Amino acid sequence: MDRVRGKVAIVTGGALGIGRAAGLLLAKEGARVAIADINDDEGKKAVDEIKKDGGEASYWQMDVTNEKEVEKVFGEIYRKYGQINILVNNAGIPGTGKPSDEMTEEEFERVLNIDLKGVFRCTKHAVPYMKKAGGGSIINMSSMLGIIGGGDPVYHAAKGGVRLLSKGDASVYAKANIRVNSVHPGYILTPGFTGMIEKRDPEMLEGFLKSCAERTPLGRMGKPEDIANGILFLASDESSYMTGTELIMDGGITSQ
Ligand SMILES: NC(=O)c1ccc[n+]([C@@H]2O[C@H](COP(=O)([O-])OP(=O)(O)OC[C@H]3O[C@@H](n4cnc5c(N)ncnc54)[C@H](O)[C@@H]3O)[C@@H](O)[C@H]2O)c1
Repeated sequence: MDRVRGKVAIVTGGALGIGRAAGLLLAKEGARVAIADINDDEGKKAVDEIKKDGGEASYWQMDVTNEKEVEKVFGEIYRKYGQINILVNNAGIPGTGKPSDEMTEEEFERVLNIDLKGVFRCTKHAVPYMKKAGGGSIINMSSMLGIIGGGDPVYHAAKGGVRLLSKGDASVYAKANIRVNSVHPGYILTPGFTGMIEKRDPEMLEGFLKSCAERTPLGRMGKPEDIANGILFLASDESSYMTGTELIMDGGITSQ
């Protein structure tokens, strides 16, 4: 119940999917949780769910592509709670699914702007508060596709960037007792994941989900809660000797 008691956590993209599960679990384990997202309806519902469960949480409208908004919202969160100890850089969108020679520069830039530069902006504006608190834990959402290649070049570029940005920040901020680790999920059943498939071809959804489970050595797709468990571990002091590392939670896909 108390694995992160006394800490304040910001979860970007916490309205749905993996971020929502992470916010719920962090709150259950005692953290005060700030959900920062662009989906106000779902973000507020996530906060209500946390409160119904006895936890403490608040919702903040924040687009990770807008640095001024990130700076403002983090300042307000700090003023509300008096500290910021955990940042889960989870907000993200799928890639385009297009090969490089068919992608526009705008499409490429949009994915990088959210998935990679969003992590940079939020880290930049969380670090000063973590330094004041004497340390902190930053958990960056990469993907198994940030380690291996596949059919979605811009997503690999963004998530591979997150992996090494995490290692760079980990070495720079270790002296300030700020730990930075990346998380690498496999196929996780979330609204974002199913939405991506449906957008490309709605007819394909059922078969695609089945093939994801079949391609996974553990024989099933992951649940958002599977990833939330890893995020909680990295957020808590149980991982206090871990920084710059990559937590792969993919049911065994990258180990084949
Ligand atoms: N689902 C998977 O299979 C999977 C696998 C590996 C990595 N990931 C990564 O995990 C993270 C969460 O994915 P998910 O599947 O839970 O997605 P999701 O679409 O279900 O949830 C993503 C959340 O991020 C929010 N968001 C999107 N753009 C934003 C922005 N500009 N500013 C603030 N919030 C924004 C959305 O509103 C949504 O609430 C993403 O970074 C994704 O790339 C997902």
